[in-house]
Amino acid sequence: MFITFMAVLLLFFMLPLSISASGDAFIGVNIGSDISDMPGSTEIVSLLKAQSIQHVRLYDADRALLLALANTGIRVTVSVPNDQLLGIGQSNATAANWVTRNVIAHVPATNITAICVGSEVLTTLPNAAPIIVSAINFIHSALVAANLDQQIKISSPHSSSIILDSFPPSQAFFNRTWNPVMVPMLKFLQSTDLNFTNIPIMVTESGWPSKGDSSESDATVDNANTYNSNLIRHVLNNTGTPKHPGIAVSTYIYELYNEDLRSGPVSEKNWGLFYANGEPVYTLHLTGAGIIFANDTTNQTFCVTKSNADPKMLQAALDWACGPGKVDCSPLLQGQPCYEPDNVVAHSTYAFNAYYQKMDKSPGSCDFKGVATVTTTDPSHGSCIFPGSHGRKGTRTNGTSLAPSNSTSSGCLSQYHDNGGFFTSSLILVLLLCAVV
Ligand SMILES: *[C@@H]1O[C@H](CO)[C@@H](O)[C@H](O)[C@H]1NC(C)=O
Ligand SMILES: *[C@@H]1O[C@H](CO)[C@@H](O)[C@H](O)[C@H]1NC(C)=O
Ligand SMILES: *[C@@H]1O[C@H](CO)[C@@H](O)[C@H](O)[C@H]1NC(C)=O
Ligand SMILES: *[C@@H]1O[C@H](CO)[C@@H](O)[C@H](O)[C@H]1NC(C)=O
Ligand SMILES: *[C@@H]1O[C@H](CO)[C@@H](O)[C@H](O)[C@H]1NC(C)=O
Ligand SMILES: *[C@@H]1O[C@H](CO)[C@@H](O)[C@H](O)[C@H]1NC(C)=O
Ligand SMILES: *[C@@H]1O[C@H](CO)[C@@H](O)[C@H](O)[C@H]1NC(C)=O
Ligand SMILES: *[C@@H]1O[C@H](CO)[C@@H](O)[C@H](O)[C@H]1NC(C)=O
Ligand SMILES: *[C@@H]1O[C@H](CO)[C@@H](O)[C@H](O)[C@H]1NC(C)=O
Repeated sequence: MFITFMAVLLLFFMLPLSISASGDAFIGVNIGSDISDMPGSTEIVSLLKAQSIQHVRLYDADRALLLALANTGIRVTVSVPNDQLLGIGQSNATAANWVTRNVIAHVPATNITAICVGSEVLTTLPNAAPIIVSAINFIHSALVAANLDQQIKISSPHSSSIILDSFPPSQAFFNRTWNPVMVPMLKFLQSTDLNFTNIPIMVTESGWPSKGDSSESDATVDNANTYNSNLIRHVLNNTGTPKHPGIAVSTYIYELYNEDLRSGPVSEKNWGLFYANGEPVYTLHLTGAGIIFANDTTNQTFCVTKSNADPKMLQAALDWACGPGKVDCSPLLQGQPCYEPDNVVAHSTYAFNAYYQKMDKSPGSCDFKGVATVTTTDPSHGSCIFPGSHGRKGTRTNGTSLAPSNSTSSGCLSQYHDNGGFFTSSLILVLLLCAVV
């Protein structure tokens, strides 16, 4: 799905928030299960605990996983899958049954805090659109009857594609085609205020794939790391948006695991923070705190040559780094650990990185007239250990880094405040919005 990031911000203006009373924003993760080697429920819960992940969203209400999540303190959002929506939207009894089996059976041991009714129904299952509101109503009635309506929120997540004219965000509006559904739904969510000014929103899916096919050049580990690291930092800081600064918008990252069975382009299978075996796909570089994701060791960014750089420019930059730049280039000499491979790309990568580390990764120190770029992947190989490396490959450590980074490649969210230019490039992003009562 190719959607621009601006959509994340839109509903702030359509539905200004007033959820400061509900406290700070949190980061959660989505747990999809289109995985050939799906980890068992206890393995999943171990990973969540090891990574200090406190909020998860499921695409169904898997009984084994809900049982494994009991007494962990982890907050759980369950979902009514689209294929059950029709039955629930047509029958109060079916809805009550669903709540009994999938919610009442598990609370309070499992802390179910929200129910998402369907997923992207307007865009993926438009024929079912008219019954969303009745499905929400029926499920809500069942929660009221069980006296759970105060602790369990309910809504339906929507694709950001229902929002039009999304830049700048303040001019965005809903595609009016969906008014017959959106208006009653918003009425339900905010029955006291028909101008809908106080409905809190939550971003139920936001992320970036770490790998794509040849037409998806933005799907890289570095971009995924940059996006998710900055997203987490932005959310946990309660930064809000330019129009509504300081408003908490909790967000679920898409997603915990790579889902290898998903169809579509290569990127579809590579949104995860972790492989199914629990190894991280990359090491996030976050700042401090350890609020989510286990605190780990590394704080690593490196400077490398750009893949399409002109060899003549590389050679000139290499000569500069090892000369006026005062980099110690002796490891590049014959017989030394970084001599092989003996080519200008490998040697300039070493020299650029050494300079970048020597300059304390200061802004501008990884440019070299545009032939260098920052990465989070440790370029060390064999006995050639790059300056700034902690001796192991940054992309395959288990545990997730909580370290600040001011590198040029990690400014996407902060750049938002400076200029909109960043968003003119095509980004890959799944975004759903889940309003909550
Ligand atoms: C369940 O989650 C809610 C919302 O975060 C929290 O207020 C409540 O204390 C939790 N309950 C338990 C038993 O942990
Ligand atoms: C649906 O059932 C609940 C009990 O589960 C009941 O309280 C409620 O009035 C019913 N709502 C409708 C619209 O029939
Ligand atoms: C609004 O949604 C309808 C139904 O999906 C679609 O046909 C139409 O193209 C959308 N409008 C715009 C301007 O995208
Ligand atoms: C919208 O609701 C707010 C209160 O939530 C109220 O102050 C404002 O006047 C309302 N605006 C309109 C156009 O009704
Ligand atoms: C964190 O929030 C403060 C004020 O709320 C803001 O000044 C600062 O820029 C934010 N930092 C980030 C990284 O968003
Ligand atoms: C986080 O760091 C603290 C202090 O260094 C350490 O005691 C703790 O075990 C670490 N947590 C994890 C999950 O690695
Ligand atoms: C991360 O890097 C910054 C600046 O480069 C440094 O101040 C900080 O101490 C590092 N943190 C860790 C955990 O190494
Ligand atoms: C990290 O890796 C080490 C060694 O491979 C393993 O013993 C440990 O259990 C792993 N930790 C987590 C949280 O996966
Ligand atoms: C990162 O950048 C911000 C703003 O440009 C600056 O205030 C901060 O000191 C920098 N942090 C580091 C670790 O360089």
